[in-house]
Amino acid sequence: MARHFDGGRLVIASHNKNKVHEIADLLAPYGTDVVSAGELNLPEPEETGATFAENAIIKAQASATGANLPALADDSGLVVHAIDGRPGIYSARWATPEGDFGPAMEKVHALLENQSDRSAHFMCALALCWPDGHCEVFEGRIDGTIVWPPRGTIGFGYDPIFLPEGRDKTFGETTLEAKHPVSHRARAFSQLVAACFA
Ligand code: IMP
Repeated sequence: MARHFDGGRLVIASHNKNKVHEIADLLAPYGTDVVSAGELNLPEPEETGATFAENAIIKAQASATGANLPALADDSGLVVHAIDGRPGIYSARWATPEGDFGPAMEKVHALLENQSDRSAHFMCALALCWPDGHCEVFEGRIDGTIVWPPRGTIGFGYDPIFLPEGRDKTFGETTLEAKHPVSHRARAFSQLVAACFA
């Protein structure tokens, strides 16, 4: 049985304002007192894992130890099937150092030239870790296709080139309210909530 989060403060182990915003929004109904790793000036560990889950654990454990509080980390990314799952765990690292995803999206587009398979999925691993080292990990995924040119200015990262299955708007054209019910993050979240918060 999963360990339960017993209230009190929870660190969102991320320095990415967009992620912190999405996670805080998803946790809002549970009245959790959240603070981000950025606000606590916690160092960002190197993501040396080989999978989303391993990287989520590295980040959550670093914040849990640094703050002596339970910490929740998200490791996520875009997995494009025809190009061996790239950018995958390197999704953030394909952006410029300033965080511009224009060149990263161009790179996906260029690699997909001459490919008929444009299928992809977003993957999210959530790790909730405690200062004693115990972790619970949950994963969620949403399938879709890569479109070009990019569409929409809402959201972040690769949102403008990702068209979720069964929808006619990219994530870049989708409000957070419409993204939440289907997103990879929300799907991982519903498992986390059922196991650790309910
Ligand atoms: P990391 O988990 O901080 O290593 O970075 C994940 C990266 O994956 C983000 O910087 C985005 O580029 C991408 N990504 C993850 N989730 C989403 C999403 O919901 N929309 C768009 N891009 C995403």
